[in-house]
Amino acid sequence: MTEIAARHQDSTTREADIVAALHGRPVVLVGMMGSGKSTIGRRLGARLHMPFLDADHEIEVAHAGMSVSEIFAQHGEPYFRDGEARVIARLLEGGSCVIATGGGAFMREETRNRIHDKAVSIWLKADGDVILKRVKRRADRPLLQTPDPAATIERLIAERSPFYQFADLAVASRDVPHEKIVDECIDALSAHLLPAGASHSSGT
Ligand code: S3P
Repeated sequence: MTEIAARHQDSTTREADIVAALHGRPVVLVGMMGSGKSTIGRRLGARLHMPFLDADHEIEVAHAGMSVSEIFAQHGEPYFRDGEARVIARLLEGGSCVIATGGGAFMREETRNRIHDKAVSIWLKADGDVILKRVKRRADRPLLQTPDPAATIERLIAERSPFYQFADLAVASRDVPHEKIVDECIDALSAHLLPAGASHSSGT
């Protein structure tokens, strides 16, 4: 076997070991909007051969295709938050998958506890400038429709970080190729779930 083929087999085995060690629990990504939860979650799901589910999208489906912005505008944030908590509770019962949560979901204690009990969580931790660069391309974040979105992002980071840090794992989200962040999620899951030496791949 060539060295590249051997490395590929090692990492495939390590990913299978992670899935086995999850015992059917989902992997849940938490963190600020624009931290890459959906982008990384989709790729992480593909690497682990687990379906990817986006909580915001599931909320939109449950509202006959209304967008998150429309739900905020028509029904208000408290209504959205209740629906979000219900949707995440349902997704957590679905077994093996990767779930991207909306940036505010982990603020609710009940949701944090559920995620803690039923899943392994990863905080994708991004700086304000990275977030601003990513979210300013789109106007679909109702909480950022403020006169000073940069200040709003900094305020939300300050308010939310004490809660995000309850996630089981943290990975720094930054402007590097997506696969690098996925690799770091896999490394973090491996270190958390697999006893030292049990992984078939040391990555060396
Ligand atoms: C929100 C984040 C959004 C969406 C809603 C509220 C938040 O999800 O749930 O706009 O409170 O941070 P993303 O984090 O996927 O952008």
